[in-house]
Amino acid sequence: MILVLDFGGQYNQLIARRVRENNVYCEVHTALSIEKIRELNPEGIILTGGPQSVYKEDSLLPPMEIFNLGVPILGICYGAQAMANVLGGEVKPAQVSEYGKTEIEVVSASRLFAGVNKKFVAWMSHTDKIFTAPENFIVTATSRDCPIAAMENPAKNFYAVQFHPEVVHTVEGAKIFSNFVDICGCKRDWKMSSFVAGTINQLKNKIGDGKVLCALSGGVDSSVAAVLLSKAVGKNLTCVFVDHGLLRKNEAAEVEEVFSKFDLNFIKVDAGARFLGKLRGVVEPERKRKIIGEEFIRVFEEVSKKIGAVDYLVQGTIYPDVIESGLGKSAVIKSHHNVGGLPDFVDFKEIVEPLRLLFKDEVRQAGRELGLPENIVSRQPFPGPGLGIRIIGEVTAEKIKIVQDADAIYREEISKAGVKNLAQYFAALTNMRSVGVMGDGRTYDYAIALRAVLTSDFMTAEAAQIPWEVLSVVANRIVNEIKGVNRVLYDCTSKPPATIEFE
Ligand code: XMP
Repeated sequence: MILVLDFGGQYNQLIARRVRENNVYCEVHTALSIEKIRELNPEGIILTGGPQSVYKEDSLLPPMEIFNLGVPILGICYGAQAMANVLGGEVKPAQVSEYGKTEIEVVSASRLFAGVNKKFVAWMSHTDKIFTAPENFIVTATSRDCPIAAMENPAKNFYAVQFHPEVVHTVEGAKIFSNFVDICGCKRDWKMSSFVAGTINQLKNKIGDGKVLCALSGGVDSSVAAVLLSKAVGKNLTCVFVDHGLLRKNEAAEVEEVFSKFDLNFIKVDAGARFLGKLRGVVEPERKRKIIGEEFIRVFEEVSKKIGAVDYLVQGTIYPDVIESGLGKSAVIKSHHNVGGLPDFVDFKEIVEPLRLLFKDEVRQAGRELGLPENIVSRQPFPGPGLGIRIIGEVTAEKIKIVQDADAIYREEISKAGVKNLAQYFAALTNMRSVGVMGDGRTYDYAIALRAVLTSDFMTAEAAQIPWEVLSVVANRIVNEIKGVNRVLYDCTSKPPATIEFE
């Protein structure tokens, strides 16, 4: 097992999944005592990035004693600075902060960089840097503005990198993790099937013969969560599909059709009018998310009262939902409706989130292990708050219809053109109206924005290059077929600095 000590960076679970990709079990913990760490008996420790500065008084630092455990340690970004600081090096604010893609040059032989190109592009994101390496450390890599981009004490197997090997933009990142796993001497025998079997067992033990309600959206995450639960508790599970009126065109009917074929207790609740009422006049994205999150819970509570004696509510929350909603010392990016969007009081004994630590592609893998059909497992993600966060500004019935129709046209044309490998693509309704001319007359209508991204983990993403011929057909159809739209824009921004959804 490799232990990841979490200092609040945005990419921390990404570190865990890079370790899991090497078939090594991994746990992420925050602020552990040395006794706890000894108990876990890790074969290696990774110190993550984080938003703090090691030289500030209230900063969280790893316990000094981890450096006497005799296990390899890898510090990443803040983790590298923390290692430098604890072992007697010097960390100070950098004159030049580095953000984004940066060229790294390996300057001396290192087991961590075995088989890695001498020069490679890495993802940097830091405002402090290591000025002096601790005693017995050698510098193993540099960048233009960071003379100590990597350092190590090879005798003790302590490694520190200022860049982020866990993000896909660091081209040699996977190799670096693979090398670290080898340095730790891990056996590489952990698999997704172990996760599935282990989780079903844990759920059985926890829930026993209690009754469970599963919030099912028809998306990959909640479908996988539902099947996991049904394997654990069988008929004590009831899946509730809430049609909040913010779904894609025809989606409610499609979800109902798919799940009526499964051997599950399935209930659909039509709640469109109720959600729309709550959202009337609300424009602030976080407020919208919280309102939708709360309303979901209220609907589930009502269904649960009808069923009677339901203890647990299951949600298909996955890791990017958790981290972007703010966790520990991480910053809040968005309150994902099923995490930060939860109301303070929830009338269930407990909320169970069996996929909380997995990434989207790992969830798909788990779904395949569980025998879910490929058309569900490979569905593109759809956010819980639905079109509510793809309509910028106030949500109205008219705007929902516009964005549903635009999105349906976009999906139809993408599928007709056979554009492959898009992780997610959709239409959003900007709150911008602009002047156009149609049939010799002036229009003052909305602009639709089209988005398509490439990503595997949804933490970072690139805008996809959709062929121009496809985009122009989509744009033409949208303005011709949908009343109230006279302009179509394509979103070329990556994440970061943008996010995938608009709100
Ligand atoms: P962002 O917009 O944060 O989206 O870059 C990352 C991924 O998460 C999805 N998303 C959500 N999923 N509840 C969900 O279940 C939410 O509140 C939520 N907000 C965003 C988004 O569609 C993308 O796949």
